[in-house]
Amino acid sequence: MTINSLPGPIGIFDSGYGGLTVFKEIAVKLPQYDYIYFGDNARSPYGIRSFETIYKYTLECVRHLFGMGCHLVILACNTASAKALRTIQQHDLIACGPAYRVLGVIRPTTEMVGKLTRSGHVGIMATPGTVQSESYVVEIHRFFPEVQVFQEACPMWVPLIENREQDSPGADYFVEKYVEELLRQSDRIDAIILGCTHYPLMLEKIRKAVPAHIRLISQGTIVAERLADYLLRHPEIESLCSKTGHSVFFTTETPEVFDAKARIFYGKEVRSTHFEL
Ligand code: DGL
Repeated sequence: MTINSLPGPIGIFDSGYGGLTVFKEIAVKLPQYDYIYFGDNARSPYGIRSFETIYKYTLECVRHLFGMGCHLVILACNTASAKALRTIQQHDLIACGPAYRVLGVIRPTTEMVGKLTRSGHVGIMATPGTVQSESYVVEIHRFFPEVQVFQEACPMWVPLIENREQDSPGADYFVEKYVEELLRQSDRIDAIILGCTHYPLMLEKIRKAVPAHIRLISQGTIVAERLADYLLRHPEIESLCSKTGHSVFFTTETPEVFDAKARIFYGKEVRSTHFEL
């Protein structure tokens, strides 16, 4: 890869649409920067795939974002953060040179956990891939070894949301089912992390299924706050982020399909361009 020292956009990557719920908050918090959103919709969902496949797909997309001029890429996808981030950081970035960074969404979320629970019992609802990786458990214990973590894989939630069935009565069944299964593991859970960037689209339904004293944590604002803090602490990377307040969207799917659904996740009209892998 050619080393490029010109400032470029911040890359925001997700397997599909979910990352838009994070990007929406980043764009509000840090409107001065340029962004490229990259959704690998043609190959999503990632959450049910193997470690090798998720790593391969994520690395490929990150490399494309670097090729488009990004120096900093945010994996706005828990599954990619859980399964690919560490290997990319430890093995692949070295070959790219010192001016490239890839960050995920799990670390910023877990850093906050101590402030969000009083009982010390925290629930994680995420894709099967994220749950199997145990990334949340490992990361939470790194900061808060006394906190007990209970996980529930929710394999049906992403397909329901991707198919715009999140408001249907059929979705009620799967929301109640996974919430009940999680809460059965501990009656002391007082905070639940929605550990998938798709889930904010189903927040109201999840809220109704969860007892009122339990806090539900979405990641968008947390990740945006932590990114602002990261850029302050890393002026050498911040200076490589261009600032004209411009965003573009790429999808590996058909743009018409992407744009129609992306609006629901992003809260605004989106005009994407097809990216051929
Ligand atoms: N949005 C992804 C996440 O945060 C999951 C979607 C998928 O399974 O591809 O985990």
